[in-house]
Amino acid sequence: MLQAQLLLLAAALVEAAPAYKPKIADVTKIGTQESIFPFLAGSAPHFSYPVSFGIPKEVPEKCTMKQVQVFARHGERFPTSGTGDAITSTYYKFSNYTSSFNGSLTFLNDDYEFFLFDRDDLEEETSWENTLDPINPYTGEQDSQRHAREFLYQYSELLENTTSFPIFAANRKRVYDTAKYFADALGVKYNVSMQVIDEGTDVGANTLTPSFSCSAFNWSEHKDVYGNFSNQYLKDISGRLNKQNKGLELNTTDAANLFDWCAFEINAKGYSDICDVFTQEELVKWSYYNDMHTYYRDGPGNSLAPTMGAVNFNASIELLKQSDQLDLKVWLSFTHDVNLVNYLTAVGLFDDGKKLTPDNMPFQSQLFHGSWQVPQGARIYTQLYQCGDQSYVRYVVNDVVIPIPSCASGPGFSCELDEFVEYGYNRTSGTDYVASCDTTKSSNETELTFYWDYTTKNYNASLIIE
Ligand SMILES: *[C@@H]1O[C@H](CO)[C@@H](O)[C@H](O)[C@H]1NC(C)=O
Ligand SMILES: *[C@@H]1O[C@H](CO)[C@@H](O)[C@H](O)[C@H]1NC(C)=O
Ligand SMILES: *[C@@H]1O[C@H](CO)[C@@H](O)[C@H](O)[C@H]1NC(C)=O
Ligand SMILES: *[C@@H]1O[C@H](CO)[C@@H](O)[C@H](O)[C@H]1NC(C)=O
Ligand SMILES: *[C@@H]1O[C@H](CO)[C@@H](O)[C@H](O)[C@H]1NC(C)=O
Ligand SMILES: *[C@@H]1O[C@H](CO)[C@@H](O)[C@H](O)[C@H]1NC(C)=O
Ligand SMILES: *[C@@H]1O[C@H](CO)[C@@H](O)[C@H](O)[C@H]1NC(C)=O
Ligand SMILES: *[C@@H]1O[C@H](CO)[C@@H](O)[C@H](O)[C@H]1NC(C)=O
Ligand SMILES: *[C@@H]1O[C@H](CO)[C@@H](O)[C@H](O)[C@H]1NC(C)=O
Ligand SMILES: *[C@@H]1O[C@H](CO)[C@@H](O)[C@H](O)[C@H]1NC(C)=O
Ligand SMILES: *[C@@H]1O[C@H](CO)[C@@H](O)[C@H](O)[C@H]1NC(C)=O
Repeated sequence: MLQAQLLLLAAALVEAAPAYKPKIADVTKIGTQESIFPFLAGSAPHFSYPVSFGIPKEVPEKCTMKQVQVFARHGERFPTSGTGDAITSTYYKFSNYTSSFNGSLTFLNDDYEFFLFDRDDLEEETSWENTLDPINPYTGEQDSQRHAREFLYQYSELLENTTSFPIFAANRKRVYDTAKYFADALGVKYNVSMQVIDEGTDVGANTLTPSFSCSAFNWSEHKDVYGNFSNQYLKDISGRLNKQNKGLELNTTDAANLFDWCAFEINAKGYSDICDVFTQEELVKWSYYNDMHTYYRDGPGNSLAPTMGAVNFNASIELLKQSDQLDLKVWLSFTHDVNLVNYLTAVGLFDDGKKLTPDNMPFQSQLFHGSWQVPQGARIYTQLYQCGDQSYVRYVVNDVVIPIPSCASGPGFSCELDEFVEYGYNRTSGTDYVASCDTTKSSNETELTFYWDYTTKNYNASLIIE
């Protein structure tokens, strides 16, 4: 069945005009899988932070919003080419299988069409243009548009004297696209100039992506720690599927690929039948493994993460301090998950000093959940507001107010500005990006300046797809 379909698909691709796009609607399934999004390692569609303290994100009564900063991830997307290839290699084991499927794979016997049939989709944001189902509510395009409207709903007063302003975006195409969808959805009233900041090493510290331009950054630090997490759950998955389907030879790599398949197919189509192969316990283990991976790669477990994050945190503190002098009250920046996690690590919102360990899952005492911090379309808001003659700062992470643990006695559980500045100084004073990264070897840019010099420099890095 599948093979016949693939032949048809291949034939259609060869003819190639017009582009073949299967539109598969299963209205009954779309929207039914949201409860598993928090377990899919930040690859599934956006969701609000799952733990809320009940604090309204609106400015407290008798206070006035003075400035807002948004530090956001790109939206829902197709997998990267590496992940796409990995998913496809597992798909080939199914498409080469000649018997009919049993158990949770029986959906493959029906008219299943693989979601990665077009390599041009890899790395790209999901959109009206490339969605596999027109009623998919989770495209990155729609998420960003919705985000923009929600942003206006709460913060448009900050733009009352401003119609022309910048939006800053790292130069990966999906990041730029997210920012542009956002900009366009603000409406024609606003004249947004896109400031595209290079992700390469030559920009040094003048960047939205500090760990990408730091040659000393070790992407596999502590791999030996998180790599020790038992992969028994992956063996269980592949073993179960192989047992139900004689001759199918899935291994633990395939089992891991299935989680990515599940997440990215939802982004592309609105739902994914492959998600049904997992038990809830397996999802919990996958999610913990990935939290741990993020913790040691981008979070508090990484020796340089606080330094990477301090580049953007320091700039954020400067913007807060200069709020009265700066005409612009709204600072919007778009980048990648790793840079958001670095930033939150510098701020110290999800760091209680307890290291995540592969030996046992901490459950109630697990403060750091990477995938809850940076799902697709993640958004960290820094609010500055004035109550009486004092100013206060607080964070809203994915729609939920997360007070700074040691500084939350202000209105709305905020931190008084002067105290916040001292708090920030305490957090960052030991960090030195330029020295740690030996930046002067690759760049003469030793400070983040784009928020201050964009009007003269006009940042316009070429977009990259990778
Ligand atoms: C079978 O798998 C190979 C890769 O191992 C792939 O090139 C081929 O297209 C697959 N055949 C079908 C019918 O999917
Ligand atoms: C807009 O300008 C008016 C008049 O100068 C001023 O009172 C108000 O605070 C300004 N709004 C913002 C958000 O800066
Ligand atoms: C839009 O903003 C640009 C600066 O980025 C400015 O040159 C241009 O005049 C503005 N256009 C309008 C209609 O305000
Ligand atoms: C990066 O960390 C790994 C440990 O996971 C270590 O084996 C490797 O040597 C480190 N690389 C560098 C360049 O320090
Ligand atoms: C990984 O597990 C092995 C075997 O239990 C142990 O010897 C080793 O110390 C562990 N490594 C780390 C970094 O925890
Ligand atoms: C599917 O399951 C049935 C019974 O559960 C079994 O007889 C059959 O061999 C299985 N098919 C494959 C391909 O494993
Ligand atoms: C699983 O199989 C694929 C090829 O079919 C192979 O590339 C991969 O290394 C295998 N993984 C493990 C853990 O053996
Ligand atoms: C900053 O650090 C100093 C010295 O450790 C400490 O006394 C002070 O309370 C800290 N301030 C804040 C706001 O965290
Ligand atoms: C951040 O600013 C502090 C001063 O407040 C400075 O000591 C530190 O080096 C800066 N960190 C980075 C990464 O720029
Ligand atoms: C960095 O060097 C380039 C040329 O290599 C030059 O155009 C640029 O102005 C320099 N930037 C600074 C901040 O000195
Ligand atoms: C960016 O702008 C500069 C100066 O306006 C121009 O020389 C350069 O070609 C532009 N780069 C890109 C990638 O458009």
